[in-house]
Amino acid sequence: PRQQQALSAVLAERGALPGALLPVLHGVQDALGHIPPAALPVIARALHLSRAEVHGVVTYYHHFRTTPPRGRVVQICRAEACRSMGAEALMAHAQSAIDAHGCDTLEAAYCLGLCAQSPAVMVGDRLHARMTPAKLDALLVSDPS
Ligand code: FES
Repeated sequence: PRQQQALSAVLAERGALPGALLPVLHGVQDALGHIPPAALPVIARALHLSRAEVHGVVTYYHHFRTTPPRGRVVQICRAEACRSMGAEALMAHAQSAIDAHGCDTLEAAYCLGLCAQSPAVMVGDRLHARMTPAKLDALLVSDPS
């Protein structure tokens, strides 16, 4: 029911856009935290696409999840400015921290809009600039957002 409502709202808002599939998928994931498999045929029908096309796009883009995330979503920017400021090391650090405590979901992002204060990280819906492994550890342990 909540999922259906969210899906209908996203389709009503974005279904008629040119190239609607990606905006619709982003909208569904933003609303529900993931894209439930049951939503795929509904999206396909609404956008006059085959299920295989919708499934192909969902699995092609790493960003889309078909299961709910574990804990908070921690996004580490891996685009150029952040990469030059140590994003890869931060990513590896976050991966081992999250593997160890096992309660958040790590994702790569490609520019969070904080390039001048890189490296940038988003935890839940909060952005953090000039991240370091030590600051990230503190956030992962204590930030309740
Ligand atoms: Fe990382 Fe823009 S490149 S925030």
